[in-house]
Formats: sequence, C-alpha cells, structure tokens
Amino acid sequence: MLVILKRDAGQVSRQAAQLVASAIRKKPSLVLGLATGGTMVGVYQHLVRLHQEGSLDFSQIVTFNLDEYLGLPATHPQSFHHFMQEHFFAHVNVSARNIHIPDGTIRGNYDQYCASYEEAIRAAGGIDIQLLGIGRNGHIGFNEPTSSIASRTRLKVLSRETLDDNSKPFAPSEQSPRCAITMGIGSILDARKILLIATGASKAAAVAKSIEGPITSAVSASALQLHPDVTFIVDDPASSQLTQREYYLRVLEMTALLTPDRLS
Ligand code: F6R
Repeated sequence: MLVILKRDAGQVSRQAAQLVASAIRKKPSLVLGLATGGTMVGVYQHLVRLHQEGSLDFSQIVTFNLDEYLGLPATHPQSFHHFMQEHFFAHVNVSARNIHIPDGTIRGNYDQYCASYEEAIRAAGGIDIQLLGIGRNGHIGFNEPTSSIASRTRLKVLSRETLDDNSKPFAPSEQSPRCAITMGIGSILDARKILLIATGASKAAAVAKSIEGPITSAVSASALQLHPDVTFIVDDPASSQLTQREYYLRVLEMTALLTPDRLS
C-alpha cells in the first residue's frame, strides 16, 4: 500500500486526477472504475480542466461506476447518473456507449441484472484503475460493514450511518433510498490498480482502521490490504489518526527517488 499524505483536499484531488490522467495517456482505452460523492467532485474538476485545456482525451476510455441508488431514475437530481453527468460526462468526450452505471430502476431479477454488470466489466477486459471514496463507516462503494470480502455486484441495504449521511439532499417530503446496487468488495479487488481518496476529519477513523487495522468485514476498506496495488491519497485531517505517518513520508521520499512513476 502506498499512502500519499497531502496537506488539503485541493492537493488530494489534484494528485488523484494526475494519476488518472497519466494512466489514460499511457493507455488511451483505459477501463476506469468511477465513484461519486463529495470527495470526488474536485477530482472530476481537475480532469475536466485537463480535457478543456486539450491535454487529455477520453474518447476511448470505458467507465464503470461503482453504484446507484435503487429506485432513482437517471433524471433524479440525487441519482449517481445525474451526479456523473453534472460533474464529469457533460464536460468531457467519453463516448456514451462506453459509460456504465448500475440501473437504479430495475425491478425483479436483481441477481441476473447484477451478473450482467459483472459480465460487462469482464467483457471490457476488467477495470484498470478503480477510484474509490470511503464512508465514515469504512464502506467502499455501498459495501456496508459486514459485507463479505468476496462479495460481487448485488443489491445492498444501506446502513443507518449511510442513510443519515446521504439523506440530507433529499426533499423532506421524499423517502430517501434505502437500498443500492453496488459492485462488491470482490469486484473492486479485481481491479488492477485501486486509488482511494479521503479528505476531512470525519474520515480519519475509517482511514486509520483501513490502513493499519486488522482486515475485517466490519471495515470494508480494510479488505484493500489484500490487494497488491493500492494507493491511498489523504489530506491532513483524514490522516490524523494514522500512527505510522513518519514511515509513510519516508516511503514517499524513496518512491519519488526510485519509482517516481507511482506518483505522477
Ligand atoms: C459513491 C461511493 C461511496 C462514497 C463514500 C464517500 O459512489 O461509492 O462509497 O465514495 O460514501 O462519500 P463522500 O465523498 O460524499 O464522503
């Protein structure tokens, strides 16, 4: 695991966007796993800026989003489809046929739908880079605490903490979604490279447990310790509960010296 410590959220998103951009320049047909949420907004802003400056072409990439709320159509302002259009797809040249986001409107045979999402990832050659945020409870995607480390794309009931965190933007008269379709932890671990970004003090405990705690289904992101190529990019407040900061800084220094590709 590479732990990149940055001062603030702006630096975190710039670094994450830089790593994604250089991967796309090396492999224009990159298969990119995407996440939504407040932490991702800055990353998408940087990627959009690079595209608008003419230095980044998305025309050949293929994307797979992690999750979508069950029951929300793509047009709903709180849907992840809508988030992705607003913050990313409307401003760049990803081909519409290469965009995959779980369908929140499916009804009935969920297992079959989720298996077809997994099959589409396989058919695209697997995910090259998976972008992740992290919930206060350590979730990645909507893999809530106690999710199996081997889980695949499936219907998932949201935890109380996630319901509290995510219900705010919904109108008071509206029932916020209680379930989501999410890629599983096993699906995420299949990606060739994983980039998790975390900012703000509310994520500090989850970040410390994920990097330095035991691997446990109680903290879904701790399963990332099983993956051979994971980079965490965290700002000062989100890294405040890590006990090995001095070591991570020395690793960063040596990485810059010996394998600078991992940082840019
Ligand atoms: C969203 C997702 C979630 C978020 C996490 C952090 O697609 O997969 O795991 O990444 O809930 O959300 P923010 O960034 O809003 O704190």
